[in-house]
Amino acid sequence: MTVRDILKMGDARLLRVAQPVTAFDSDALHLLITDLLDTMRAANGAGLAAPQIGVDLQVVIFGSHARNPRYPDRPVVPPTVLVNPVITPLGEATEDDWEGCLSVPGMRGVVPRWSRIRYTGFDQYGDPIDRTVEGFHARVVQHECDHLWGKLYPMRMTDMAQFGFTEVLFPDIAADEDD
Ligand code: NI
Repeated sequence: MTVRDILKMGDARLLRVAQPVTAFDSDALHLLITDLLDTMRAANGAGLAAPQIGVDLQVVIFGSHARNPRYPDRPVVPPTVLVNPVITPLGEATEDDWEGCLSVPGMRGVVPRWSRIRYTGFDQYGDPIDRTVEGFHARVVQHECDHLWGKLYPMRMTDMAQFGFTEVLFPDIAADEDD
């Protein structure tokens, strides 16, 4: 088990466009995914992207088997490893909701996202993934994949008046669960 350091906003490595994975089912890729899972679980996150631990590859993980104590009212998203993703918006509809990020600790902001998307890509074995999703699941995928294009959620915000410290905005959220 290796819990890696999570890069914070301001680190130039979070602004890179990540490289596609070219070798599936490799020891290096499996090790990367183990580290991402260990790091995400240790931080109680809803998702994590390889660039957040300084790895310049198009790999994200998200979802959980159980409800996240930080998001008890939100739908469960199936645990997913997504490599070389492509997101296609379905329709013009967008929706606003609060987001946090392990690379922007202690903050929350309202971010517009596509309501419905199709996403494709591969798992760590090279098997294809092709899903059509909406709502929170669609939001999580868009947030995590944005890390692969060098985008952090504050860069997607349209109303900076809806950006602030979690402890002020949501005082019921424990201070140690602050992504
Ligand atoms: Ni994030």
